[in-house]
Amino acid sequence: MIIQSLLGVVLLHLWQCGASSIMTKDLKVLVSSNDFPESALKILQEHFTVLQCKYLNFDEEGRTLAREELLNLIPGCSALVWSSNLPISKELLDKAGPQLKQVSTVSAGYNHCNPDELKARGIKLTNTPNVLAPAVAEIAVGLMLGAARRFTENLDQVRRGQWEIGFDKVLGQDLRGSTVGIIGLGGIGQAVVKRLVGFEVARFIYTGHREKPEGKALGAEFVNLDTLLSQSDFILLSAPLTDETRHMINETTLAKMKKNAILVNVGRGDLVEQEALYNALKNKQIYAAGLDVTTPEPLPKDHKLLTLPNLFVLPHIGSATVRTRREMAELAANNVVNGLTGKPLITPVQLK
Ligand SMILES: *[C@@H]1O[C@H](CO)[C@@H](O)[C@H](O)[C@H]1NC(C)=O
Repeated sequence: MIIQSLLGVVLLHLWQCGASSIMTKDLKVLVSSNDFPESALKILQEHFTVLQCKYLNFDEEGRTLAREELLNLIPGCSALVWSSNLPISKELLDKAGPQLKQVSTVSAGYNHCNPDELKARGIKLTNTPNVLAPAVAEIAVGLMLGAARRFTENLDQVRRGQWEIGFDKVLGQDLRGSTVGIIGLGGIGQAVVKRLVGFEVARFIYTGHREKPEGKALGAEFVNLDTLLSQSDFILLSAPLTDETRHMINETTLAKMKKNAILVNVGRGDLVEQEALYNALKNKQIYAAGLDVTTPEPLPKDHKLLTLPNLFVLPHIGSATVRTRREMAELAANNVVNGLTGKPLITPVQLK
């Protein structure tokens, strides 16, 4: 009796799974990359018809080609797995059609996803926070060290074969004994504090909308922006880009920083007003900067920022590790599976 009813439950379950994947197989999901991790593709392919577009290349020519391909593939899709920083425009959404239910961005930031327009159209948005925090935090620490120890100038010496000799080499700044100020103590900011503990930092301070219990647990003190700017030796930008945070580092805020301050940005390029940063670095008003994000991306190779010896730049590689990219892709895929099969989204973005 028990065995029979168990069998019944199992059969029913199998039937439901089969039926739901048969029913969802005619839903189309577009992945905007052709080097999306295999494990994540499999998750999608189990349920849906998956279309893939050439990786949306950064160079203009590649971008135009991929754009055509994308616009050809997008009509009729139920979800987009968005693995590029190409903006989700109205045009793109119109082209996709009214059956589009979800955009799943393979990133933590979603400023490029046109959240207002998605909300207006009732399209759900999911992102991949948390899974990328450790990798981005590692890059943030790398940028702090790279800028403070003047990797740009020092690497240049090595490349030229002209090492400065003597006691007074290109001297840098210590993390040891410093005050580290974090603008935006979210997952990434917290992960940075955890990683910096071993560097004997004297004091962690942070600012944001409100004091956070995680801050207390990490021994970081909540302060206002002005205090953070005027007291920090290292300033980390790990806040999302919003209308409120855009250009929050500008001429005025740079002027409040210490002369030995090192600014690190792992958030978004537009948190910083770049012309003002250029001037501050050029005039040695602050000591150095380390950027993983810029405006635009890529930064043209003849951009004047790249003439600065006290700037250390990376090409937006914060989350670019094998493990992290795989985890991001799988989370993005599972979000779509849940979204299109009526289950709760794993990491929804609350659209305001
Ligand atoms: C500079 O940033 C501060 C703080 O984010 C802001 O209050 C101010 O309006 C900004 N100033 C300019 C000129 O953008």
